Amino acid sequence: MTFKEWHQYFQSNRDHFDYIPWSGEPELDGFEEKLITRSIQQFQKGENSDGKHLMQLSEKMNDDYYTLSIKGLIQEEQNHAAALGQFMAQEKIDTIGNHWLDTIFKRIIKTPSLEFTIMVLLAAELVATVYYKALRQATYSRTLKAICRQILVDEQMHIQFQTSALQLFYLKHNSFGRFLFRNFYLAFMLLTSYVIWFQYSNVLKKGGYSFTKCMYALLKEFAKAMRMIIGKAPIAQPQNVNQTC
Ligand SMILES: [Fe+2]
Ligand SMILES: [Fe+2]
Repeated sequence: MTFKEWHQYFQSNRDHFDYIPWSGEPELDGFEEKLITRSIQQFQKGENSDGKHLMQLSEKMNDDYYTLSIKGLIQEEQNHAAALGQFMAQEKIDTIGNHWLDTIFKRIIKTPSLEFTIMVLLAAELVATVYYKALRQATYSRTLKAICRQILVDEQMHIQFQTSALQLFYLKHNSFGRFLFRNFYLAFMLLTSYVIWFQYSNVLKKGGYSFTKCMYALLKEFAKAMRMIIGKAPIAQPQNVNQTC
């Protein structure tokens, strides 16, 4: 697999929100709106980034198609933000300017290390897979369910894309470097998982996740990604990723 294929994939996936069944009028009742408002505001904010720093860092890969793929990835995340934003406007939910978790996240990824930045971004993709599954389960809104379903399909693709880049870094490390990578990343993911539970437990609980189930789901996604990074599991081609989420 080459990054040329990923670039082509991101190019061809631009109109993937066109089929969303927008109702044009509020679908959430007061209880549901109260339940999801805080987290959907934060995820909408988190998905919306200009990605300038990431674009610059991507040049370290010395592969023009990787940089073009990163550009496509950033646009796709912005599409997620736009779809969530349109839904929030329909429900009269305000967007937010800042949030402490988003500020910390965006500060962490402003390192000069492309490898570390991808590690953090991949952790965010893994978190997204669990959160949007919970949100899809937690809501009765047809529109929001459809948005979550499309985002989940996209995030599965993003996980394949990020793991294929991280694998290139992992394979360059010696055995001690690989040991450090695996253990540091596991510790980082554990810490992230705790934060995510305490931040979004109301939606996660309504979506069927207890604390134990949530931690298990996040660490299972992490283990699957780690197996791809270290070469113990195949990384799917863009056209072959499982589309059922
Ligand atoms: Fe996203
Ligand atoms: Fe993503």
